[in-house]
Amino acid sequence: MSEAAAQPEFVPPVAPLDGPTASGRWTRETCAALDAADPHASRRAAFDLEEGLVYLDGNSLGPLSAGARARLHEAVEREWRRDLIRSWNTAGWFELPERVGARLARLLGARPGEVLVDDSTSANLFKLALAAIQARGGRGRIVSEAGNFPTDLYVLQGLARLCPGVEFVAVPREAIPAAIRAGAALVVLTHVHYKSGEMYDLPGITRLAHEAGAAVLWDLSHSVGAVPVDLRAAGADLAVGCGYKYLNGGPGAPAFLYVREDLQASLSSPLCGWMGHAEPFAFDDAYAPAPGLRRFRCGTPPVLALSALDGALEAFEGVDLAALRAKAIGLATLFRELVARECAHHGPVLASPADPARCGNHVGYAHPRGYEIVQALIDRGVIGDFRAPDLMRFGFAPLYVRYVDVWDAVARLREVLETRAYERPEYARRAAVT
Ligand SMILES: Cc1ncc(COP(=O)(O)O)c(C=O)c1O
Repeated sequence: MSEAAAQPEFVPPVAPLDGPTASGRWTRETCAALDAADPHASRRAAFDLEEGLVYLDGNSLGPLSAGARARLHEAVEREWRRDLIRSWNTAGWFELPERVGARLARLLGARPGEVLVDDSTSANLFKLALAAIQARGGRGRIVSEAGNFPTDLYVLQGLARLCPGVEFVAVPREAIPAAIRAGAALVVLTHVHYKSGEMYDLPGITRLAHEAGAAVLWDLSHSVGAVPVDLRAAGADLAVGCGYKYLNGGPGAPAFLYVREDLQASLSSPLCGWMGHAEPFAFDDAYAPAPGLRRFRCGTPPVLALSALDGALEAFEGVDLAALRAKAIGLATLFRELVARECAHHGPVLASPADPARCGNHVGYAHPRGYEIVQALIDRGVIGDFRAPDLMRFGFAPLYVRYVDVWDAVARLREVLETRAYERPEYARRAAVT
């Protein structure tokens, strides 16, 4: 069964109201009624969101949660200020990358000893890709997708420069299966595309790669905490992903890496730092890898950032991920219907697959003035983001986004488009981060 088919079906969540078309039935009142009936509605209270703000950028940076704030406060005030260096032992700072990894494992369909949280997604991608290639004699083709997130492509280009026996190819999405069948040592793909939101069939591609003798490294940055992922069931080999997006770990939160249990002993980290040594405090001159996943640690872990992410993960405790995903599809479907009804004649063009179940939890619209429109929306309390050359992105993180937020966002988008408010010159000034 394909992964898209395995997603919960979207059931229109309200009884139809009078109206000429399905999309014509929505009103702000029906949205409020949906929120009142939403079993996840109480989860929003865990997030510190300003009243009146519509936050549709959790796919880039999740908001601060009570759990993250409390855990960070404890790490600063008790563990660092009072207990000082003793906290490496008394507060378990040393084991934090594994402990937070174990907490995250459920969201990935992984076992506790298969997930480590440390370093950035870029660094983890490098470590795992090179480890996989070295396990295959340092040779072979790496296949990825043209238009994949740039860091993935840059890391793999750099890796190929380091390893004369490695050829790196990035092919269009449609050509991925043929490129795998043509022979690959490693396939590196982003499960949910950072622009279009389009989602790969993770179990299907993993199976195809294994049949062709290749390992697969999944970038789950836009998947974890957004769509149900079952790495174990898929037989996935390796994965990485961000802690600051849907996991709400805070700006620059450490990333995770996943290595299937039976592969761990056969892979070595190419960044042999002391924290990945079997006995860091033996201070041996010679490197000997730690057993298990700890070998993929490199330097001293970012304790405060790990603590914030640890606390942020509380928001997922007891959450049924399939039900959460069903809500996200409901939010995205409403947004798409309302944009089609209210805004389509002003030029935004859907740049995501038509079926929300084939996407992660964000949707993209192309518009030649996309950057300016996003700035005008931010001025009106609706935060999305922009990806060059022309893409407006809106993310629907179901732990805190409400149906009325979707309604209000589209109302403000329509106003910006109708009044051409985006033409104000200050909106054209490009900031460093878009
Ligand atoms: C798919 C994907 N991979 C990797 C990254 C970047 O990871 P990092 O900056 O943590 O290395 C991003 C950031 O948006 C991303 O979208």
